[in-house]
Amino acid sequence: MQVIRAMQASDLDEVIRIETQVFHPPWPREAFLEAPCSYSWVICEDEVLQGYIIYHMVLDEGVILNFAIDPKFQHQGLGTRLLNETLNLLVANGIRMFFLDVRVSNLIAQNLYRKFDFHPIGKRKNYYSEPIEDAIVMVKYIDEWNNKNI
Ligand SMILES: CC(C)(COP(=O)(O)OP(=O)(O)OC[C@H]1O[C@@H](n2cnc3c(N)ncnc32)[C@H](O)[C@@H]1OP(=O)(O)O)[C@@H](O)C(=O)NCCC(=O)NCCS
Repeated sequence: MQVIRAMQASDLDEVIRIETQVFHPPWPREAFLEAPCSYSWVICEDEVLQGYIIYHMVLDEGVILNFAIDPKFQHQGLGTRLLNETLNLLVANGIRMFFLDVRVSNLIAQNLYRKFDFHPIGKRKNYYSEPIEDAIVMVKYIDEWNNKNI
């Protein structure tokens, strides 16, 4: 059975295995342990960890810090499910806007975020390294009167 649950210390080896496959450069192990004010979830099926998402939260703002699905399981709807369920959970807990950074070249992730009504609001010049690349900053506002739009 597929479940979404809070990330635990025992998940870290598997999370880092995925991280090193999908991101260049990957977050170091300490970044996962020390992310401030953060909430982290994993998606698993029968104990197999398939992906993870990490948010930073301040007051009513949430920032997606890290989000990945194991390449073996990509394009099967898992990213959509993990994003949908965690956004809903945070909205239910009072988050009213979400921000994220994404590489200009990462059209797959941008397509996914657009489906969740994230909109580009700016660029950070040369934000990423290896290769150096701009970040697109995207935002999603939650309608105060109708949260069903997520
Ligand atoms: C971005 C990511 C999390 C999406 O996860 P996923 O489980 O593959 O996504 P889903 O299967 O739920 O697909 C959701 C949407 O993403 C886009 N997408 C996913 N795979 C795609 C592909 N190979 N080509 C084009 N679009 C794609 C599509 O818009 C898709 O919607 P559709 O199926 O209706 O066309 C995953 O590709 C990933 O981990 N990428 C590497 C890490 C990364 O880029 N993280 C985001 C950093 S900002």
